[in-house]
Amino acid sequence: MNDRIQTAFNDQINEELFSSYIYLAMAAHFERMNLDGFTNWMKEQAQEELEHAMRLFDHINRRGGRVFLKAIGEPPSEYGTPLEVFEKALSHEQHITGCINELYKIALEENDYPAQIELQWFIDEQVEEEENVGRAVEQLRMAGDNQSALLMLDRELGQRTGEEEE
Ligand SMILES: [Fe+2]
Ligand SMILES: [Fe+2]
Repeated sequence: MNDRIQTAFNDQINEELFSSYIYLAMAAHFERMNLDGFTNWMKEQAQEELEHAMRLFDHINRRGGRVFLKAIGEPPSEYGTPLEVFEKALSHEQHITGCINELYKIALEENDYPAQIELQWFIDEQVEEEENVGRAVEQLRMAGDNQSALLMLDRELGQRTGEEEE
């Protein structure tokens, strides 16, 4: 892989690790609110982002490239109401979609076919991520100030396990 692709993939590893960090901070935020289901959902999400970082890490190494790990940014510790937390998660995923699209564009410009194939998995994944987080935002909007609806959603999202993914 050429330098431009290698740098872009390394930057994306950092984005995915930072995503994991944000979701972990959101998990801690929900844990403080005693919303165990949302906490579980966020922990699963943090785990999934680590796996995304590892896919890119492996891709670079398998192709004889070099992994450079940079410092991971500090996520905020406060996220507001459950709706605000998921709204922030959604705008974060939209940001990541933009990063993946940009990465794919670079892979096209550099005629890097293996990178394009690897990135197609991420393009699919981002559709799923925005869909899942977007649905949670909509459901939280519907719940509004209704505490029992909120607890029902907390229970429902808490069902998420690692095995359902992919
Ligand atoms: Fe990701
Ligand atoms: Fe994500």
